[in-house]
Amino acid sequence: MKKACILKASPRKKGNTYSLLEPVVKKLEEGGCRCREFDLYEMEVLPCLACRGCQQDWSAANCVRRDDMGPVFEAVMESDLIIFASPIYAWYCTAPLKAAMDRMVYAFNKYYGPEKGPAIWAGKSVAIVTTCGYKPEKGTDLFEEGVRRYCKHSGLEYIGKLAERHLGYDVEFMDEEKQRHAEEFADALLKRSV
Ligand SMILES: Cc1cc2nc3c(=O)[nH]c(=O)nc-3n(C[C@H](O)[C@H](O)[C@H](O)COP(=O)(O)O)c2cc1C
Repeated sequence: MKKACILKASPRKKGNTYSLLEPVVKKLEEGGCRCREFDLYEMEVLPCLACRGCQQDWSAANCVRRDDMGPVFEAVMESDLIIFASPIYAWYCTAPLKAAMDRMVYAFNKYYGPEKGPAIWAGKSVAIVTTCGYKPEKGTDLFEEGVRRYCKHSGLEYIGKLAERHLGYDVEFMDEEKQRHAEEFADALLKRSV
């Protein structure tokens, strides 16, 4: 992996998801992967309107909505790897990431115009970094399954998830085991060829 675009979507800047993500990013960068991070809670990410304005031009994302998604579209196009980093809210990712995912699934997949076009982001890899309150197999399974199908639909390669459990606001989230899992996850991402 040479370049990663990381879409971060927690309202808690020093919370669990970003604490888990930090060693992943550090390892990726040490391994020569350039990481571009976007904190979607700090940005304006409007929902998709299903206007299909993006379907006119197959050369780029070209969404008609004027908000902060432009640089995200550009960074995604330049990246080999996209990381969705979100806590689980109501069995899925948080709302800003869902809005970004909706915008991207139309803007990059030119499937929805009068003539079926290409997935212009096909071949990129996708990974998840997530935290949840339930056991990860019950807390993150629906989001992971959604991302798997999202990738299959878009010609993207889903390469896996790092998921850890939050045991309570009175318990320190990060520990040695989670740190090791994060570093191992980053190593596994680095080993993937593009
Ligand atoms: C509004 C809200 C909804 C949540 N829904 C779920 C859920 O459906 N399943 C789950 O396992 N945890 C759920 N949680 C717990 C969070 O996923 C968990 O505390 C997470 O580690 C928070 O990450 P953060 O510190 O990065 O914000 C929810 C938390 C909030 C605030």
